[in-house]
Amino acid sequence: MALRRFDMEAGGDTFAFKPETEEKIAFWRSKYPADKQRSAVIPMLWLAQKDNSGWLSEPAMREVADRLEMPYIRVYEVATFYTMFRLQPVGKYHIQLCGTTPCQLRGAEKLKEVCQTEIGKQMFVTDDGRLSWEEVECLGACVNAPMVQVNDDYFEDLTPDSLGMILNKLKNGVEAHPGPQVDRINSAPEGGTAILTDPQLFDGTRNQSVALPNLPTAEPEPEPTAAGKPAESAPTNTQREVPQKDNTGKTTLISKTETAERSAPAAVSGEKPESVTIAAEGHDDLKRIKGIGPKNEDALNELGIFTFRQIADWSPANVDWVEDYMSFPGRIEREDWIAQAKELATGGETEFSKRVDAGQVASSKDDED
Ligand code: FES
Repeated sequence: MALRRFDMEAGGDTFAFKPETEEKIAFWRSKYPADKQRSAVIPMLWLAQKDNSGWLSEPAMREVADRLEMPYIRVYEVATFYTMFRLQPVGKYHIQLCGTTPCQLRGAEKLKEVCQTEIGKQMFVTDDGRLSWEEVECLGACVNAPMVQVNDDYFEDLTPDSLGMILNKLKNGVEAHPGPQVDRINSAPEGGTAILTDPQLFDGTRNQSVALPNLPTAEPEPEPTAAGKPAESAPTNTQREVPQKDNTGKTTLISKTETAERSAPAAVSGEKPESVTIAAEGHDDLKRIKGIGPKNEDALNELGIFTFRQIADWSPANVDWVEDYMSFPGRIEREDWIAQAKELATGGETEFSKRVDAGQVASSKDDED
């Protein structure tokens, strides 16, 4: 940062805040406890600068120091550190031109030439007292580079021509409009907003709670079997509310029963069983195997598994693969699917299949939906 010295002569010997500023001073000071009043030094200096034609004279800094009971040097340190405080007289309109990299890459050098031509060297005040300028570091509007700040307003997306016109207006007392000087609103694309254009985003119709689909949900109670025991055959059958758009674009919550559709885990061990295609009349009722309900049967059918014989022929590697895929490790062995399938494949029956055939196992009935 360049060495910043204050102008000892131009400021005269005295400074007084304007009467109407006292209310603002009280506002800022009220933000800090009685023993921390020094914390108000920056807003106080800012108000002093406003009351002193846009710059801080040495008497103005002393006035701030006296009011806050600070050593003068502490206030000088703050005023000379921050470039928002000007230490010598400026024009009625003081232009701060950003020369930091984004603005520089977007043409700030050309803007500097305009300022030099129209106003003069940095901190020079034009004879009519209206204009002065200086180069500053990033003003935080890089997305609208290059830009300048004129007193409290930003003028953005400048070109040498547009800056020249702005300076001309300021010089001649014509109102200049701050903001982007190209066809865009704030930082939106030139020519108009390209995203978030749906009016429903802003008319309140979407202000309703939604259930995030990936939040954990409580598993429903297992369906009781005819024997009064919880069914074990439909572990993935869950009910949840999910957001859904209708054909007008409106989002509503619908209650959805999750199907047995599942995606394979990222890493499935073992060996995938051979998949076959069999006409519907050749399908076995896999729900006659204890542990296979309608959802698991659907999942197995999706894998191309339709018969007891296929399950009976599974190798241990096939069992591992199916257990990994269906996310129930150890269950096929625990429920002895292979032995049940062997029995049923040869036309035999199991105690469980007899109860299924008699309609006593509710969880082995096909879903209505
Ligand atoms: Fe100019 Fe940030 S670089 S506003």
